[in-house]
Amino acid sequence: MFKWAKWHDTAIKEIISPNGRIKCQFTLKDNRIFYTISKDEKPIIRPSNLGLSLCGEEPFQNGLRLIRTTRRIHDETFNMPWGEESQIRDHYEEAAFYLSESEKSHRIFTVRFRVFDEGVAFRYEIPPQPKFQRITIKDEQTEFKLDLNTTAWKIPAYQPDRYEYNYEKTLVYDLAHPVHTPLTMRTPNGFYLAIHEAALYDYGSMTLVLDNNYALKSDITPLSDGTRAHVNLPFKTPWRVIMIADSCLELTTNRMIYALNDPPKSDFSWVKPLKFIGIWWAMYVGEWTWAPGERHGATTAHAKEYIDAAVRLGISGLLIEGWNDGWEGNWLENGVNNKFTTTTPDFNLEEVANYAKAKGVEIVGHHETVGFVDNYEQQLDDAYNYYAVNDVHYIKTGYAGSMMVINGRREFHHSQLGVNHYQKTLELAAKKHICLDIHEPIKGTGIERTFPNLLSREGARGQEYEGGALLPSHACYLPYTRLLSGGMDYTSGILDITNNVKRISTTIARQLAYFVTIYSGMAMAADRPFIYEERFPDAFNFIRNVPVNFAKTIPLAGEVGEYYVVARKDRDSENWYIGGVTDENSRSVHINLSFLDDGVYRAKLYCDSPDAHYRENPFGINISEKHVGRSDILDIYLAPGGGFAIELIRQ
Ligand code: NOJ
Repeated sequence: MFKWAKWHDTAIKEIISPNGRIKCQFTLKDNRIFYTISKDEKPIIRPSNLGLSLCGEEPFQNGLRLIRTTRRIHDETFNMPWGEESQIRDHYEEAAFYLSESEKSHRIFTVRFRVFDEGVAFRYEIPPQPKFQRITIKDEQTEFKLDLNTTAWKIPAYQPDRYEYNYEKTLVYDLAHPVHTPLTMRTPNGFYLAIHEAALYDYGSMTLVLDNNYALKSDITPLSDGTRAHVNLPFKTPWRVIMIADSCLELTTNRMIYALNDPPKSDFSWVKPLKFIGIWWAMYVGEWTWAPGERHGATTAHAKEYIDAAVRLGISGLLIEGWNDGWEGNWLENGVNNKFTTTTPDFNLEEVANYAKAKGVEIVGHHETVGFVDNYEQQLDDAYNYYAVNDVHYIKTGYAGSMMVINGRREFHHSQLGVNHYQKTLELAAKKHICLDIHEPIKGTGIERTFPNLLSREGARGQEYEGGALLPSHACYLPYTRLLSGGMDYTSGILDITNNVKRISTTIARQLAYFVTIYSGMAMAADRPFIYEERFPDAFNFIRNVPVNFAKTIPLAGEVGEYYVVARKDRDSENWYIGGVTDENSRSVHINLSFLDDGVYRAKLYCDSPDAHYRENPFGINISEKHVGRSDILDIYLAPGGGFAIELIRQ
């Protein structure tokens, strides 16, 4: 609802969320533009600058006048083809402010705001204008002026391992170095926020840094030429998104980024989420190698064995890494020579693909580019064709270099050129009816609503960092931070916990929990098949049964970085799944089952035993069954570094 009284005031325009709690004020003062945000009349964003600086041009910031304002209310519920919810409500008040310079070139641009019950989004829109068809962005002047005592959970930007860092708790006051979004925060007046972006296309990704005025400011990932983006007009920047919630749990179901993206423009009904095993962890624990040789993993024989295992295990897909030419020596340095259409002599893609087809198993192909985008793009059409003609409908791509090489220059993965490369692969894959799981990706900004074939991404520390660099708290941060930007391929389900090459820092029950607490449209059961079949067949039952597509998600309990408990309803049945994880501290949680529908459910519980411990006794698991209904409460114990998984089967 608009405040009409204010609306006639030329200086301040107020946009109010449908439930009236969030207010956003747009102000034109001294011919410059600012905005503020409050919730329940408590300030969240104090007067903050808006504007863009351009190369070779005056910035879009000064001498502005408001020439037109439009407003509308939008309320629509749309379907998600797969994911954590089958439906999302897109309900907001929108105002667009059309601005013109009062002097000199009289350039025009628009700032569009949408105010939802769950937060605020705005973006800049620049129409084409005489003498002005292409612009170079020098910087964005967008500020998010928060109370400096706001707590923030950050990972650093512009670092060699991209998004793969442990989260650190700090104050906004200390954000002197750029950090990635989503940046999750808790304000001194008790709200939980995340600043992020939606619909990132043809532009550098936004990082955040405290500027000299002690304002958190957008810092767009630069190109190697020092600019932030070169764009043709008309152009719309990505949406700047401020998610606002009363609790950290409420924040975890913020779906604004999907609402801010467009529906698909073509038919994607061929896209199917997938659970898969892989010729993968055997390389991490040193049994096999990516490179050809005596212990080569991706041989035709191994692939057939794994396909047979997938059938026995009831898993639909198989990832094969190390099948192509180029892995010899130090693959991180030699990736410039990777070939994506020729196989090692001991691997026959056609034979493997035919075998998989006959057994009803989907192959997940693999392209490790090591960030050598020039090399990859030269082969892109042929490489995707090669998979398409062999009926490979899924590809895991990887960009494991610390920078990308694009047009012969070193560029950040998250720069405009990196963003455009990821988009090119996605659109080509869509044409070939191929789904992607991108490792070392660009962060999620909700574009999988428009391109549902983007089934998953990595984009945070995953379990390949086990063996020393993953703390039990890490997976307790993810739901409140990284996962606000969409699903993640965390490579869950590694049950060989005490492996002496890669010691895992969890209990066994917690590995099952990850299939619920960390959603992925392509969910990997990452351990080797013999571990599931021979050593842990009972625990594996949960991995087999847990769906990869949910109708509804209800967070039940948690605190950022400490613990997280969530329930999800299967999209294809009446069954529910609950998962919980804790940091290095044990705890008990009481789960009120009142969210269930009426009726009786057979609950299968996979819980830490009372003496379980991620270091001392990781295999301590109790698997039990009982009947429950919506009036029941479950008391569950989580061991240090532990977790639990529950399957509730409707009777
Ligand atoms: C890093 C990826 O995250 C991992 O899953 C993959 O196995 C290696 N790169 C090699 O491609």
